[in-house]
Amino acid sequence: MKRIAFLTSGGDSPGMNAAIRAVVRCGIAEGMEVYGVHRGYEGLLAGDFVRMYRSDVGDILHRGGTILKTARSRHFMEPGGAAKAIEVMGTLGIEGLVVMGGDGSMRGACTLVEAGFPVMFLPCTIDNDLAYTDYTIGFDTAVNTVLDAISKIRDTSSAHERVTIVEVMGRESGDIALYAGMAGGAEIVLTPERKPMLSYVYNKVLAGLNRGKLHSIIINAEGSGIASDALEADIESHTGKETRTVVLSYLQRGGSPSAQDRILATFCGAKAIELLKNGEKGCAIGQKDGKIFAMDLFEAAACTKEPDMSLYELIEVLSM
Ligand code: F6P
Repeated sequence: MKRIAFLTSGGDSPGMNAAIRAVVRCGIAEGMEVYGVHRGYEGLLAGDFVRMYRSDVGDILHRGGTILKTARSRHFMEPGGAAKAIEVMGTLGIEGLVVMGGDGSMRGACTLVEAGFPVMFLPCTIDNDLAYTDYTIGFDTAVNTVLDAISKIRDTSSAHERVTIVEVMGRESGDIALYAGMAGGAEIVLTPERKPMLSYVYNKVLAGLNRGKLHSIIINAEGSGIASDALEADIESHTGKETRTVVLSYLQRGGSPSAQDRILATFCGAKAIELLKNGEKGCAIGQKDGKIFAMDLFEAAACTKEPDMSLYELIEVLSM
């Protein structure tokens, strides 16, 4: 394989640039011509490619976002989208593609492989919602961002003896909430995988107050199905305690990637080049039990994950 391209797609995640650096430099080291595609699948359809050299990816390892820009492309998923993209790549002599993104981007990668084009997929999303891999690139940084926010919120919550709801991202996954809640000592974590009755929330807050707790921190995942503003009003009316909400939103997507995300991104990028060089046709790369691995893209896309209820039980015990 002599000429390859890569793109970043969907919501950006810290570590995408580290993955870009690895793909470009490892690809060039293997004698490949490497092309970056601007704005994800949109750029693939528009033929918005740029040849990339070693020096183009200098000084980006520590940066959040993606130097290639990203987009959520409706056009690509429309009938004929994949065929058009393959035609565009054909005119440029591109023989393989590396896709960096989340679940929507993975579906896009599947349509290309189905149509016979080789694609290596790198799991880049803060949500940690790709079941085939233990961790996605960007998740660790997002958890650390939430953790930093919790520490600051805890100071002001105890000073005012308030309840604070911290709403975090994650789409249909509660992993950001769960891991940040565990590491940040939250009293209650509400996620799509486990949303307790509202009465449980009030009673837990009241029990804490009765034991002399100065504050309660509640982490509410955006996909929990419980609206933070309604929860805030309900807690106030049932406990008499002043309650505030902090929505962390896009703060969680930005920032310099953690060491863990940079390392994961680097290994995954290097693995993608190795697989393309070996003539693999469609793989998803990830990390299982601490090791970088690759599996069939379609099998990876079909994986589902059972929530680990023991983590919720542990939070319950620790926050009594
Ligand atoms: O998938 C990453 C993510 O940040 C989700 O956690 C969130 O629900 C969504 O993207 C927000 O998407 P957008 O950038 O389109 O607002």
